[in-house]
Amino acid sequence: MMNDEQYDYFKKRFLKLTKIDLDAYKSQQMCRRMSAYIENSPSPGVVEYCNNLEKNPEMLEKLGNYMAINVSEFFRDLQLFEYLKTTVLAQLMKQNSPLNIWSAGCSHGEEPYTLAIMLDEISPNIHHRILATDIDSEALGQARNGGPYTHESMRSLPPALLAKYFTRQPNGYSVSEEIKQRVTFRKHNLLADPFENRFDLILCRNVTIYFTDETKNILFAKFYESLKRGGFLFSGGTEVMLNSGVIGFTNVKASLYQKPETISNHVLARV
Ligand SMILES: C[S@@+](CC[C@H](N)C(=O)[O-])C[C@H]1O[C@@H](n2cnc3c(N)ncnc32)[C@H](O)[C@@H]1O
Repeated sequence: MMNDEQYDYFKKRFLKLTKIDLDAYKSQQMCRRMSAYIENSPSPGVVEYCNNLEKNPEMLEKLGNYMAINVSEFFRDLQLFEYLKTTVLAQLMKQNSPLNIWSAGCSHGEEPYTLAIMLDEISPNIHHRILATDIDSEALGQARNGGPYTHESMRSLPPALLAKYFTRQPNGYSVSEEIKQRVTFRKHNLLADPFENRFDLILCRNVTIYFTDETKNILFAKFYESLKRGGFLFSGGTEVMLNSGVIGFTNVKASLYQKPETISNHVLARV
């Protein structure tokens, strides 16, 4: 495993080459992950490895993709998605339609396609906008192709929806053309790239678990700015936002935060 000095050196070279700041990620976890990768490469020395990275864009792209852990599945946390469908989406659609939604850290597309399927079920004729972004170009490639998806990633998908929206392929399942067209995928680094505004709903689930507390706070505050008044942020089950009230959010229930219709004075004072 890299020692502190080697990891510092690696982080600086990596930032210069990719604009990804590894200081934003939990240090021990990321150092262990990167060290294992470098040790298994043909050039295990950190300096030599970084020099090779600089000369080889393909190798750099692969490392950038490896950095991100992108396990995902359709309807990950079925109960929460059910709540989202029956309560949050229904409430939002009473005020605004079509909706503007962002799946941030979308991996291979399981999460934004889950949303697209849910919206097709409740409002088939309305073309909501679903923006889905991730830092991992390989995962985005699979997402744009609409698959293939393994059985494993579809285990929570109700059978009727599997039959309606997916086609069996030799190497898994692919999502229907109709659903594919409802999602726009884009490469985006949450820690460096500008955010769009005026979202009704943002999902950022199982992404911030790898970030330091300081990075998480900055990110949640940026999501707050990106939401419309009355909009919702849906986080992962273990991604509790400790200072949600300070940022201005109302904690509606576990994993669900709302930007209030009326902004309180302490939040206005910050602006
Ligand atoms: C575990 S997956 C979560 C996928 C999905 N949101 C879910 O809950 O099933 C985490 C995703 O976050 C992405 N990610 C990590 N750091 C990121 C960053 N700085 N900007 C954008 N995406 C990032 C990874 O590439 C990965 O696809």
